[in-house]
Amino acid sequence: MSELLIQGGRPLNGETVVQGAKNSVLPMLAATILTGDTVEIENCPHLRDVTNSIRILEDLGCTARWQGSTLTVDTRGLDQYTVSDHLMREMRSSSVFLGPLLARIGAAELSYPGGCELGPRPIDLHVAGLRELGAEIRESGGMLHCQAGHLVGCELLLSIPSVGATENLMLAACGAEGITVISNAAREPEIVDLQNFLNSCGAEIRGAGTSTITITGGRRLHGCTYRCMPDRIVTATYLCAAASAGGLIFLRGANEAHLATVTAALRQAGCDICADHAGIACRCEERLRGIRSIRTAPYPGFPTDAQAVVMAALCRSQGVTVFEENIFENRYRHVGELCRMGADIRVSGRTAVVTGVENLSGAAVQSTDLRGGAALCVAALGAVGETRISAIHHIDRGYEDITGDLTALGARITRL
Ligand code: EPZ
Repeated sequence: MSELLIQGGRPLNGETVVQGAKNSVLPMLAATILTGDTVEIENCPHLRDVTNSIRILEDLGCTARWQGSTLTVDTRGLDQYTVSDHLMREMRSSSVFLGPLLARIGAAELSYPGGCELGPRPIDLHVAGLRELGAEIRESGGMLHCQAGHLVGCELLLSIPSVGATENLMLAACGAEGITVISNAAREPEIVDLQNFLNSCGAEIRGAGTSTITITGGRRLHGCTYRCMPDRIVTATYLCAAASAGGLIFLRGANEAHLATVTAALRQAGCDICADHAGIACRCEERLRGIRSIRTAPYPGFPTDAQAVVMAALCRSQGVTVFEENIFENRYRHVGELCRMGADIRVSGRTAVVTGVENLSGAAVQSTDLRGGAALCVAALGAVGETRISAIHHIDRGYEDITGDLTALGARITRL
């Protein structure tokens, strides 16, 4: 298994281009099913999760091919509706194929996505909304058997603003007769990107980015060429790398509007961040300050995906920061590994109290999940000595080239 070797203790200095957003392209790849045409997604990151989505599309009878960072998907040949158990287990977000399959061919078979490293992650809101649109969904033997002779638009209300449920229902609603209104929808920028993509394919969707999204269904969709947004969590990760190691970096293509709560927290900690149309510059010269409290919340609140990397950057800060993880149950698995490097973090339920220490020491640590692994890279850059990170396949799910990116920013990092 590959490992990362990081020599910490030296400030960063450099520039890198931020990759396309994983959580934008994944629903977009599922959405290509709705077009029955050829779609070109530009700025598409080469990630394990994207490869898995391509495998699912190919299993369904579609084709996909890369040309640099442009992924061309042709869904004209779609003639299957089963998502393999293996691929469902590889990637929980494969549940987003449910909606477009029901809209396109009125059937879908997929295994109930198992638990994952972030605690139980049900899809009850997805299933409830699809049933309200007219789908028949039967659960047996860990499988979801779905039929939808005729989807009819309606008023949908989400009890929590679930990103995946919002996306799945937007996609199903495109194939439903009449108007669907999703209330208490998730407001993430990736949802806006998905709306813009679908409208480029001929859909009529309004309101993404707000809590109420209106979809006019039954329109014939066609292919398009679309450039996906920059990845705001990769941006947050590299800002935290500079916060942890110190120095001056520039993230080309980053859009600060997508991660304002993260840059606000880093500014509060003492980072000097400035953004323009070209990207985000971050300078950290002094030891960071603790910032009292960080509570994760649905967008536009503080993103749960940035919790681990911001925590890693604050391990050496002066003072105390209290984290409250309100989205996922089991999202502090990186804490034990950070403590092996000398961090002082105490977890109790949804709360983690980080008391800054003068120094972290390089150590042998293991990635526990995607963002937890990225957090170990962030901490290692600010630690004295060498850190060896194993199980980095987790990191490869969301970072196209973390070794190349951090090297461009001045880090001493090698992939073994
Ligand atoms: C998306 O996951 C992202 N993944 C996650 O990013 C992100 O952390 C999360 O949204 C929150 O922002 C993708 O976009 C591929 P949710 P998703 O549905 O859709 C509960 C990363 O690191 N819930 O908004 O699965 C759920 O258990 C990944 O890139 C239900 O109870 O998140 C969770 O506690 C990790 N029933 C909360 O809602 C449901 O039917 C938020 O989940 C659906 C969700």
